[in-house]
Amino acid sequence: MASYVIRGARPLQGEVSISGSKNAALGIIPAAMLLDGPCRIENLPDIADVNILLEICRSIGAQVLQHPDGSVDIDPRTIETSEATHEKARSIRASYYLMGALLGRVRKATLFMPGGCDFGTRPIDQHIKGFEAMGATVGIEYGRIRLEAERLAGEHIFLDVVSVGATINLMIAAVKAEGVTVIENAAREPHIVDVANFLNTMGANVRGAGTDVIKIVGVPVLPGGCTYSVIPDQIEAGTYMLAAAATGGDVVVRNLIPKHMEPLTAKMAEIGIALEEGDDWIRVLPGGERAAANVKTMPYPGFPTDLQPQTMVLLCLCEGVSRMTENVWESRFQFVDDLKMMGANVTTASHTAIVEGPVKLTGATVTAHDLRAGAAMVLAGLAAEGTTEVCDVRIIERGYENFVGKLRALGADIARVEP
Ligand code: UD1
Repeated sequence: MASYVIRGARPLQGEVSISGSKNAALGIIPAAMLLDGPCRIENLPDIADVNILLEICRSIGAQVLQHPDGSVDIDPRTIETSEATHEKARSIRASYYLMGALLGRVRKATLFMPGGCDFGTRPIDQHIKGFEAMGATVGIEYGRIRLEAERLAGEHIFLDVVSVGATINLMIAAVKAEGVTVIENAAREPHIVDVANFLNTMGANVRGAGTDVIKIVGVPVLPGGCTYSVIPDQIEAGTYMLAAAATGGDVVVRNLIPKHMEPLTAKMAEIGIALEEGDDWIRVLPGGERAAANVKTMPYPGFPTDLQPQTMVLLCLCEGVSRMTENVWESRFQFVDDLKMMGANVTTASHTAIVEGPVKLTGATVTAHDLRAGAAMVLAGLAAEGTTEVCDVRIIERGYENFVGKLRALGADIARVEP
């Protein structure tokens, strides 16, 4: 397993440009499987999850042509099977959007039960509830989920929990269903709006994405034939902002949407970190007192759970006692033991972590437990005195394009090492 070796305690300096949003791309690619014509998607991040998903789309017969500039031409008219059971589909969670896409396209789908990062149980009951309400029968056998609908009809669906995945999956399925679908208590994340914008550009009729009520008027044909550019990655941008702050650096993070960063910029300002902001950039400035803060993760526009581990690293370096409450995932503090090996003073109980700071972080050998926890370990290594080795980093590369290259360009002493 590859690892990153980091010699820390160097403030990051310079500029970094943010890639296309992973979570938007992972919704848009399956959504493209609905089309009755070709499309071009631009600004896709070059990360393992996207490349695996494109490979799965090829395996069901879609024509997929990737270009070096991060764009891809997709023509799904050649899809010849409803069985998306490529071996790699087990490893990525977003393959489950092919449930909605294939159900919408051919009224049936067979997939492996979804994989992805381990934050405790990750049920898909809200997806299934919605598909059933629209007329599908759903069965689970031998680790596979089978969906079939003679008729897929629009319905009024109230989600019991605010779920990004269920919102996107049901929105995709509803685009070519008969009649009107209303999803209530929908998630409002920027990537949901981006998937809806993509679908509308291609000929769908989706209204209300970004609010908690989304209305989809089904269309019989989705012509496609257009080009669509994926939004910048809110979580990648936040990770670099936090890396700059944790190292006391001076970094301009370019090609982001400042509005999407508000939950983080508000919290960083509360901590005492000076920020400057332009139309599509945010600069994190060094200096200033850093005070403890309480953070609660919530669905958007609340503080994103996918920035929780990276934020915890910064809180370790702040003066006083911070409280981090994880409200989205039941088990997202597994990385805390590794952080403690680096000198962090954190105690966890159930959904809350109490962080006492400031501490001096020191290098250690730690593991990337999941994508964002792995990124947090890298941030801790960048801030720590001495050498840190972050093991099993492939999981980080599922979600960060050219992580090592971008950090090195900011002056970090980080190297990727194969065993
Ligand atoms: C997506 C993101 C992930 C992020 C999460 C929350 C992708 C590929 N992944 O994951 O990075 O951490 O949103 O912002 O976009 N739940 C149910 N039943 C369901 C579905 C979800 O109870 O059918 C619960 C989950 O257990 C969790 C909460 O709802 O507690 C949120 O999950 P959800 O928003 O669905 O997350 P994902 O779409 O899997």
